[in-house]
Amino acid sequence: MKKNIVLGVTGSIAAYKAAEIASLLVKKGYCVQVIMTPAATQFITPLTMQAISQQPVHVDMFNNPKEWDIEHISLAQGADLVLVAPATANLIGLVAGGTAGNLLTTTIMATKAPVVFAPAMNTGMYENPIFQHWMSFLKGMGYIFIEPEEGRLACGAKGKGRLPAPEKVVAFVEHFFSHQKDLDGQHVLVTAGPTREPLDPVRFLSNYSSGKMGYALAQEARNRGAQVTLISGPTTLDTPEGVVVTEVETAEEMFNAVKAVFPLVDIVIKAAAVADFRPRQQVIDKIKKDRAVLVVELDRTDDILGYLGEHKSDQILVGFAAETGEVLKHAHEKLARKNLDLIVANDLTVEGAGFQVDTNVATIISKDRTPLILPKMTKKELACMVLDEIVKLVKVQKEAD
Ligand SMILES: Cc1cc2nc3c(=O)[nH]c(=O)nc-3n(C[C@H](O)[C@H](O)[C@H](O)COP(=O)(O)O)c2cc1C
Repeated sequence: MKKNIVLGVTGSIAAYKAAEIASLLVKKGYCVQVIMTPAATQFITPLTMQAISQQPVHVDMFNNPKEWDIEHISLAQGADLVLVAPATANLIGLVAGGTAGNLLTTTIMATKAPVVFAPAMNTGMYENPIFQHWMSFLKGMGYIFIEPEEGRLACGAKGKGRLPAPEKVVAFVEHFFSHQKDLDGQHVLVTAGPTREPLDPVRFLSNYSSGKMGYALAQEARNRGAQVTLISGPTTLDTPEGVVVTEVETAEEMFNAVKAVFPLVDIVIKAAAVADFRPRQQVIDKIKKDRAVLVVELDRTDDILGYLGEHKSDQILVGFAAETGEVLKHAHEKLARKNLDLIVANDLTVEGAGFQVDTNVATIISKDRTPLILPKMTKKELACMVLDEIVKLVKVQKEAD
């Protein structure tokens, strides 16, 4: 069936690209209803958008309706997706503030359809902490963002903030619809973040894991219709919308939480950076600095992935291998040794990969397929690729049943 897309166009210099986006969507068989903000009509005429979308264009909320059909409600209810491209800083701030002062913001407020924003603005505006704050707030609420590109902007400045080419925006929409619910009915367990192994009441051993990869996987699995349980070590990240989170501190707590939920899940993605060792003794009082050398004995923590590999039934088990040398060799060994179905290998020494950063450079290795060597991409994009591979395994399993 034809999907209905409400295309919101706002007052950005990139508004002319909205015509091409509408044209490509119509060619691909989507029904495109355009809502323009009054500012957008300064950049591109409603007539152009009307001719391309082959539908009346909506601008004024107080137009006398031809039939008794309140526009923002009917547009909001009829949408399978609301795509705002380009999305101004102003529009994003307004939506985040819960305002509904024009037809587009009112429709966004009223809709239950997924909403995708493609921000386009000057780098200074994009990098402004206020804008970044609202964007991350909206992401936490389940709104989806297409990352702007870096390059020369219309204002002459160079940097991030450019609306991607119309073909890329449309490819994002197509990808969104094709992956929309391909994990429906699956219960996915994701582990994320570091663990902390206490040394004394004020000190602990840990690592640099930010949890970003695991949280991106949890959010993406949820977006695709899975029931998601996230077991997370300490992070500063917002809880992904619709995901049940269990917070833990130590490797032992993570092991216990994982064991409790493991029998209930279909897929496990172990993205947490669990400490391999813990101090043998946790001292009750703070250790004093009255000695020149302090020797701390460490014990191995439980091998959570090893346990899951040993005890798994027909569940799909995915691990991560973050290495600093001979990455693929170690990853292949780990895949076999831990009885995994997939392993995501990354070299921590490569620029743009590993802890803390928003990007990763990885290779996805499975038992039977040729390794998938991926370029540098955002953790969200990598989460998408990993879940694509998992969906392929789920399909193979279903066909075998
Ligand atoms: C020539 C020109 C180009 C602009 N380009 C952008 C832009 O790319 N992104 C943006 O956020 N604002 C841009 N603005 C500012 C917006 O048009 C302004 O914030 C407006 O109120 C947005 O209204 P809207 O969000 O209701 O469409 C531009 C303004 C002018 C005059």
